This record gives sequence, structure tokens and C-alpha cells, in this order.
Amino acid sequence: MNRNTNFDILPDRYLFKEIAIRASLYKEQHPDQRLLRMGVGDVSLPLPPAIIEAMHRAVEDLAYSNTFRGYGPEEGYEWLRQAVIDNEYTPLGISLDIDEVFISEGAGSDLGNLSELFDSKNSVAILDPSYPAYMDSSMMAGRKIIPLPCTIENGFVPDLPRQKADIIYLCLPNNPTGTVLRRAELQRWVDYAIDNHSIIIFDAAYEAYIEEDDVPHSIYELDGAQKVAIEVRSFSKSAGFTAVRCGYTVVPKETGLQAMWMRRQCTKYNGTSYVAQRAAMATFTPAGKRGINANLAYYKRTALIIAGGLTALGYEVYGGENAPYIWCKTPDNMTSWDFFDFLLNECQVLCTPGVGFGPSGEGFVRFSAFSQREDSEEALLRIKNGFRETLCVRPNLSR
Ligand code: MLT
Repeated sequence: MNRNTNFDILPDRYLFKEIAIRASLYKEQHPDQRLLRMGVGDVSLPLPPAIIEAMHRAVEDLAYSNTFRGYGPEEGYEWLRQAVIDNEYTPLGISLDIDEVFISEGAGSDLGNLSELFDSKNSVAILDPSYPAYMDSSMMAGRKIIPLPCTIENGFVPDLPRQKADIIYLCLPNNPTGTVLRRAELQRWVDYAIDNHSIIIFDAAYEAYIEEDDVPHSIYELDGAQKVAIEVRSFSKSAGFTAVRCGYTVVPKETGLQAMWMRRQCTKYNGTSYVAQRAAMATFTPAGKRGINANLAYYKRTALIIAGGLTALGYEVYGGENAPYIWCKTPDNMTSWDFFDFLLNECQVLCTPGVGFGPSGEGFVRFSAFSQREDSEEALLRIKNGFRETLCVRPNLSR
């Protein structure tokens, strides 16, 4: 047996696991301290009653022989795939066939698994910084990586790859920087993919946070995108399903990959839980929509409060307007991990070190707006007081 030695070049631990371990170590050593969690993008509000009721009903279905279900279709129940098209794509003027929509257990696994559709020699362009699963899964597969730096200088909008990229991961609104692309800017990426026979894996997990009109919610709003893009979406951040686990991936037939993805899923995936799919279906009912929109409004407001609060404290802050993430420059050129440790030890605030998202994230940290409002406000207060009480480090208030 030869091990896959591509694992040897990965960081020892996945970014969010590393943070979770550091947080539990801190809790073990300081059991009386209350940690304010603004690290991983995990939701904190309870699910709306309409969704909970749908899940209860689904559990009851499994209790009686006349409503019992066993394995469902690997690609998801037709009623949910049709509801996705009717509610998410038809209103945008996008036409999809039902067999182009695949229900999943969430975006994370599909984003990595999709790479199985491509030759191992294919190169991958990845924004730097970006959600670490793109980089980690591409490295596990031993692919050539083309990093696309996103910096203050380029407004966190990368240039098109200078060399041919076969696969391109795009996440918009962006995790972690919160950047969005306007219609014309995104069209350039679609045109690049058409010209270079590339495929774009478009992570739209945060589309529900878009507030501006000229920002596309789906890549299929752009001309020609159904030829060159796979879109991955999740109910996790739009409907608070991080525990429930449900999402979907659109693989248009025009990409030439739809039948391959179906083949892959039937072999390696036994379908999303019936209860989770019933919960997802409830997000499209009037009561479900009201509930999730209220939760979204809460997180969006929290993002603005965090961004505004940090700015008022003198920090250089990006994002938070079309995304639930705030991308914050560290004070006094501290490294991302040093500032992470400072916030953890002095303020008991958990963030995510920017360098964990890629080398260009060095010198930044990311705050998530998914915490309870009182916790975010308390975190801002602690950050303010933490610096007052710590003589060695201060934010650059001159900016
Ligand atoms: C994040 O914090 O970047 C993500 O929400 C974690 C995830 O979706 O896996």
C-alpha cells in the first residue's frame, strides 16, 4: 500500500478544527471565562417554527407503514428539486431542467467531491484567501494550484488567471473578504471560462446576504454560464441548517458533466435525509420564508454592527455589507495568529486568523456575524477594553 503523500503537504489540521481545538484548550484552562464565538460561520438562532413543524411531521411519516420511507433518490426528491427551481432560479429568469439539480447534505462536501469529475492533471485557480476546503481538497488530489491573490490593492477582486486554469473556484459573496462582483465583472470570468474551456465551481452559499441590485445571485444570470459553471448552494447560511445538513448543486447538461455527477452520486452518495429534505421544503412556504428572512435580517444587522463597531475603534475593516463576514486588518502589523491569540487570551473573543484562508490573508482576521447580537456587542466592548488594559498592543487609531 502506498499512502496518498499529497496529505503530507497539507497543514496538520483543517483550519476550523484547529480553532475548535484551541478554543476547547482555552476553556479547559479557564473554565470560568465565557468565550464569545465569532470564528467559524456557524448560525446561532433557532430554526423558525414552520421548519421545526415540518421536521416533526417528517419524523412522524417514518413512524407509520403507510407513510414510511426508505432510501430516497440519490439526487433528491423531485418535490424539493422542483421547489428549488421555482423559488430560486425561475424568479431570476433562469431556466433549468429538474435533473440538473442535485440535493446534497450541504455545500462543503460537494465542493470537494466535484473535483473527482476532472482529470488529475487539471490545474485549479483558487482565490487567495478563500474557504480552505477548495485548497485542501485540490492539494489532496495533487493538482497544480494557481493562486489568485486578493489584496487591499486590488480591492480583493483578483485578476483573471494569466495562465490557463482548467478549474476555477469562485465564492461570491466572498468568504472570507465579503467582496462581491458586479454583473459585468462576473461576466469576464464566464467569458474567460468559455474561451479557455475551463469550468467554474461557483460557491453561492452566501447569496442570501446580497443587498445590492447589480450583484448577481446566481452565476447563471450571466450569458453562457450554463456551458461553463457548476453552482453550489446551501441551506446552512440562508436558512440556518448547519445542524440539519441540506444543500444543492446545479450541474447543467451543457457542461457535459451532468451525467458524470449523477453516476458519481449514485455510486458514492445514498441521498440526503428525508427529514432534512422536508425541512428544506418548508423554507419555501410563506411561513418558512418569513422565519428565515427574519433570521437573515438579524445576521445582516449584526454584520453591520460589528463592521461599524470595529471601524469606530480604529480598525481597517472590509465586508459585512453583502456578506456575514467582516475582514479586519490586524493592528500594528500583528500576524493573524498573534492577533487571534491576543483576542482569545485578553478578550475571550474567538475569530478566524486570515492566514488560514491563504497566504494573502496574513495580517487579517475574520469575524463572523452569526453570533447572538448581545455576544457581538459584548465582543466589541471587550476588544475596546482589552486594548485599553494591554499596554503592549494597540490598534492604529491614526487610520
Ligand atoms: C466558515 O466559517 O468559513 C464556514 O462557514 C465553515 C463551513 O461552512 O464549513
